[in-house]
Amino acid sequence: MALGIKVFAPASVANVGVGYDILGFALDKPGDEIIAKFTNHKGLRITKITGAQGRLPYEIEKNTAGVAAQRFLEHIGEAGRGIDFEIRKKMPFGSGLGSSAASAVAGVMAVNELFNCPLEKRDLLPFAVLGEQVADGSYHADNVAPSLIGGMILIRDNTSLDVHRLNVPKGLYATVVHPKIEILTRDSRAILSDEVSLKGMIQQTGNLASFIVGMFNSDIELIGRSLQDVLIEPQRKKLIPYFDAVKEAALSAGALGCSISGAGPSIFALSANSLIAEEVGVNMKRVFKENKIRCTIYQSRINQEGAYKC
Ligand code: HSE
Repeated sequence: MALGIKVFAPASVANVGVGYDILGFALDKPGDEIIAKFTNHKGLRITKITGAQGRLPYEIEKNTAGVAAQRFLEHIGEAGRGIDFEIRKKMPFGSGLGSSAASAVAGVMAVNELFNCPLEKRDLLPFAVLGEQVADGSYHADNVAPSLIGGMILIRDNTSLDVHRLNVPKGLYATVVHPKIEILTRDSRAILSDEVSLKGMIQQTGNLASFIVGMFNSDIELIGRSLQDVLIEPQRKKLIPYFDAVKEAALSAGALGCSISGAGPSIFALSANSLIAEEVGVNMKRVFKENKIRCTIYQSRINQEGAYKC
């Protein structure tokens, strides 16, 4: 029997401060792996999960990777084929790094690769979003889209999955600090107000539009001025201990901007180059360390490739 195939799907930073549910970028690492192989029995099975401390379900319809893969198998008329999944969870849960999105992307990628790519990567997006929906109950692609296709992705509309890749200025580098506390996306969404003030809407749309202009014009200063979330960060930062101090530490080390990664608790910063990004990481970590909170730092370019067979 064939050995099967292995795929990798990377972590991602959703919202990017100014684009709640509509902006996200991929990191090089960390990420999830899935090994998939054809078997003689009927249907998709998850036979092994590592790295999840028993927290991920083996039932297909309860597992983000399982649901993404199953919906795709139904779409291509192969739901009866025997396929086994081994999921290698290599990302923390409830981290704000798009952990469930990476699993969902890996699930649909694995099946597509197993069948020799009947669909283009981009066309796998709806299945991956359906998979991630199992985790937090909402339908948004700001983690899934960058994890799948890479890059800095703007989503005009989550329902129709009208997604667009932004230009990324040369050298732009991300630092992400993940404090070892867990925030469930569902909970972090539940605390948000449904109401937005007119003043807040004007500021946020100005910042989002200017951020996009800055990206396309490689205007680093404009990107920095635009990275200010006046709507979501003020509501969510109370969930993250020492958020203001960590942000201040990142900015004082030269970061262009700093905000909450996805639903938190991770905090991301963007910098003009990898050297500054390194210094930013050192400064952010120091704040958590001084306050006896364990944390992990990730540094990455904006990953342009997304998920891949490896
Ligand atoms: N846009 C989402 C949120 C990302 O901030 O809730 C996390 O899934």
